[in-house]
Amino acid sequence: MLSVVYTAGLAGIDGYIVTVECNSANTIPGFEIVGLPDASIKESKERIKAAVANSGMLFPSMLLTVNLAPADKKKEGSSYDLAIAVSILSSCGVILPTDLLEKCCFVGELSLSGDIRPVRGVLPMCVAAKTAGKTEIFVPFENAPEAAVVDGVNIYAVKSLRDLIVHLNTDDKIKPEAFDKEKFGEAFLTSSVDFSDVKGQEKAKCALEIAAVGSHNVLLIGPPGSGKSMLAKRLPTIMPELSFDEAIETTKIHSISGILPAGVSLITQRPFRSPHHTMSSVGLSGGGHIPIPGEISLADNGVLFLDELPEFRREALEVLRQPLEDGRVTITRVNGKLTYPCKFMLVCAMNPCKCGYFGSRTRRCTCGPGEIKKYLAKISGPLLDRIDIQVEMPEVRYDELSSRSSGESSAVIRERVRAAREFAKERNDAFGIHSNAQMTSTQIRKCCTLNDGAKKLLKDAFDKMGLSARGYDRIQRVARSVADIDKSEIITEYHMAVAINMRSLDRKYWHS
Ligand SMILES: Nc1ncnc2c1ncn2[C@@H]1O[C@H](COP(=O)(O)OP(=O)(O)OP(=O)(O)O)[C@@H](O)[C@H]1O
Ligand SMILES: [Mg+2]
Repeated sequence: MLSVVYTAGLAGIDGYIVTVECNSANTIPGFEIVGLPDASIKESKERIKAAVANSGMLFPSMLLTVNLAPADKKKEGSSYDLAIAVSILSSCGVILPTDLLEKCCFVGELSLSGDIRPVRGVLPMCVAAKTAGKTEIFVPFENAPEAAVVDGVNIYAVKSLRDLIVHLNTDDKIKPEAFDKEKFGEAFLTSSVDFSDVKGQEKAKCALEIAAVGSHNVLLIGPPGSGKSMLAKRLPTIMPELSFDEAIETTKIHSISGILPAGVSLITQRPFRSPHHTMSSVGLSGGGHIPIPGEISLADNGVLFLDELPEFRREALEVLRQPLEDGRVTITRVNGKLTYPCKFMLVCAMNPCKCGYFGSRTRRCTCGPGEIKKYLAKISGPLLDRIDIQVEMPEVRYDELSSRSSGESSAVIRERVRAAREFAKERNDAFGIHSNAQMTSTQIRKCCTLNDGAKKLLKDAFDKMGLSARGYDRIQRVARSVADIDKSEIITEYHMAVAINMRSLDRKYWHS
């Protein structure tokens, strides 16, 4: 007898529906799986046999042929176990209401005992199942919270194969999961850190605020212990909350990477990823035998923080260049290409030299000029070029550190950032871009109207700082964000002066 059931596979961050057909014939017993399965799916035969037997049923003594369609897509992983088991049990008559199966989608790995284990990528799989018209989706118990985000379908959290058979065959039904979309906004911001923890460093704080408004990439340079890492970690607390669509996209990426914490249905806070400097380029950009997203994609809609920037391998840093421009990364594989989104804000921190004290006002640098040059040269020109804001963070003074007055809280700054982004939204929407950092030269000419004072400042800076054409554009982009905070269409000399001040660094260190 032939049975047809449905499950889902993964391609990039999206799922696609997979049809599982099983034919059972009364001849010499056997069990074959076809349809481009990889080794892990072939292994599922043994798991399924044991799981069926340990769920109190006889594994059919027939010739079973299972086909996974579409056959041209490589199927990887263990999430097909459950659907294959259901197709077998249905084809030999153990699962009775076969007409019901048309509306169902089954996802999950089986253990030998018949328990259902969690798998990666349940959220995108459920989205694909819904798109394909499936209304009853069965997922592992642990994955149910993320699956429940998909509305308009019934999501069932299943603990074991036996429970599933009881649900399908009897009136003893599993209750569908519920997700309250209204509660989405309430889940926002429960951070334990705050901008007001950081004393002094007003210029760097201002730089991060401007960066959050325009999604500008930032480089912080300073001696050890000046608060670079501390400040960078607090950046997500001043960025506006994720929209529902952004939250879904980010959750999909974390779901297919298998790092969604247990019980979490949606990622509601902007990610802050801080990979160690020993990270490989594959770890950063994504890939691998069974491809998973890299750190740049896990930071999608959030912050990628590269602490101790010069310590990263050069080739690892170079892979960032294209994704930084495009907001997505393409991974080439033997059988096709995968694309993952990676719209992150890059924040880098570094010491100015090996000993850390070049330019320090309190300690003497022990590096020779050649050593300093060599250290700074680890950051390539093209990468530096993509970082709009570069600020110095000197040591905090004693009076600042011991002061009792705390600076502005993250909530106050976040409100300004939100208002500024709102002000810029209509303009950027018309350009088809998401942030000021993405403005092209033509767009800059259209929307950066400078008053006379600002024009003069920019001309002076151009002459004195020896700016390149690219540097000229970058200062204007940052000035646009500063003006957005002021809700001003015109860029004034004040806005321009702040923007120029955020760029004094590469002249000092890299002479660009
Ligand atoms: N501006 C500051 N306000 C309050 N505490 C600070 C400040 N700067 C540094 N500290 C304290 O010093 C510690 C070290 O700071 P942090 O790790 O941010 O330094 P860093 O600049 O990243 O240094 P390194 O270059 O060595 O990485 C912080 O955990 C904090 O306790
Ligand atoms: Mg640090």
